[in-house]
Amino acid sequence: MGGKLKGRSLLTLKDYSAAEIRFLLDSARVLKAEKRKGRIRRRFRGKTLALLFEKRSTRTRCAFETAFGEEGGHPVFLSTQDVHLGAKESLEDTARVLGRMFDCIQYRGYDQRTVETLAEYSRVPVYNGLTDSCHPTQALADLFTVEECTGGLAGKTICYTGDGRNNVAVSLVTACAKMGVNLVIASPRELHPSPALLKTAGVWASESGANITVETDPLTAVKGADVIYTDVWVSMGEEKQTDARVKLLTPYQVNEKLMAATGNKDVKFLHCLPAVRGQEVTQEVIDGPQSAAWDQAENRKHVIKAILLATL
Ligand code: CP
Ligand code: NVA
Repeated sequence: MGGKLKGRSLLTLKDYSAAEIRFLLDSARVLKAEKRKGRIRRRFRGKTLALLFEKRSTRTRCAFETAFGEEGGHPVFLSTQDVHLGAKESLEDTARVLGRMFDCIQYRGYDQRTVETLAEYSRVPVYNGLTDSCHPTQALADLFTVEECTGGLAGKTICYTGDGRNNVAVSLVTACAKMGVNLVIASPRELHPSPALLKTAGVWASESGANITVETDPLTAVKGADVIYTDVWVSMGEEKQTDARVKLLTPYQVNEKLMAATGNKDVKFLHCLPAVRGQEVTQEVIDGPQSAAWDQAENRKHVIKAILLATL
């Protein structure tokens, strides 16, 4: 399976089969154990990675930089202040040049078409580190963390509450549908996942056995969940909508009452981070014993290392 991934980009999880996702999750588990034992294998020696960022990042940037660097690779951070990214030089030309100098490219920014263009013209593996449309490396780390903190994926139910149509939710729907994990999206009608995504997810779910549903009442939605997951109410680039979102999403806050409404005393809490305490989650929950958000953040690195190793 690893061989089939050589040279591949990761632009969206739609392009990855369940077997390929399973291979990446299993590799990440091995890599995490190796790291714990202090085994450093220098598998990226002599390789270079361009890290293109149009938006801010803590976890994604640090995960790519440290995963690549500690294996002997040379990551180069390039913000829009540093390179001509569609300004003064066409995106296609920038992609062509980066492809001549780097073995692979990570892109974080706004438009999904940008990451697709980078892949087409650079001809090296390109990794989507978040666009407005999706966040594939996040969803892989999310499933890895669910597996770790609940003991497996089969038959597990995640309830994602909040903005059900943002990049994190879209990738979670895709990943759960492909991997047979039940997912309940709890969000107001205005923020439900698109009907097109739900239709495609329904096809994957019928093959994997997953149950993907959408609810508007958060207290009903969380019943029986193994994991409660949330993300910020206002994604990067949507700041003008802050007041409207707070009004719309306040009933979807993850607090002790919502955690208790699951009826599951072992329920875990996940958050892709960064978090706004007092909005989508209370301090008691994110900093409490049920929170696996910090393991989830660390797991970004192991999963990203698995993707780099499989594709380079
Ligand atoms: N979860 C995540 O992608 O975090 P960053 O925005 O810090 O990279
Ligand atoms: N939905 C959030 C995710 C941040 C990792 C955003 O796009 O800002």
